[in-house]
Amino acid sequence: MNNDHEKENAAIASLDYVTHDCILGVGTGSTVNYLIENLDRVKHKIKSVVSSSVDSTRRLQSAGFIVEELSTVGKPDLYIDGADEVTHHLHMIKGGGGALTREKIIANASQKIICIAHSAKLVDILGKFPLPIEVIPMAKSLVARELAILGGQAEIRHDFITDNGNIILDVHNLKILNPPDLEKKINNIAGVVTNGIFSLRSADLLIIGKDQEIEKYNKE
Ligand code: 5RP
Repeated sequence: MNNDHEKENAAIASLDYVTHDCILGVGTGSTVNYLIENLDRVKHKIKSVVSSSVDSTRRLQSAGFIVEELSTVGKPDLYIDGADEVTHHLHMIKGGGGALTREKIIANASQKIICIAHSAKLVDILGKFPLPIEVIPMAKSLVARELAILGGQAEIRHDFITDNGNIILDVHNLKILNPPDLEKKINNIAGVVTNGIFSLRSADLLIIGKDQEIEKYNKE
């Protein structure tokens, strides 16, 4: 099914939350690409932009924005990004595009996080989408063994190197019944840079494009 109009509607709806003098964090992925395409509409409100990937930086620059370093702009007022799966608790799996580490850094630095997504991304329980984990290359076997103890089967993402020079393990069959607990456990494995569970710092607002409508869910 083609969800492009739902993605674009969600992205456009998020523009309402860009306030005057906004320091804006921009995520990565096809939904965010619609955000970047439409960002011109609120350009006059944006003080500075930071980006979560080389790809988004390139797109933002092509759209006429100067992309700054997170360490120089301070705390972003707002971070807008997509997700691979998201629950009603606004916990997310991210990293399908491999940009999870920079995404998590900007998310954690930001005042408010908005997740934009099409309707099929909303799930009851995380884990059908294989969990992306960014790993230091030399640790891949160790990390895969530790993940097997947690019940997951790790698969190396072939022909893919992250913007930080690391690899991605996509982990199948994890039962993510307690996202904060599993997020912490995976973070504790030596060699893991970041895992794609975003629950310790989840989204504050979820905007879903559904058919021609928009649905919004706030953090409880
Ligand atoms: C990239 C991500 C993306 O937000 C996620 O993969 C969703 O992408 P899309 O909007 O293309 O469905 O986490 O690392």
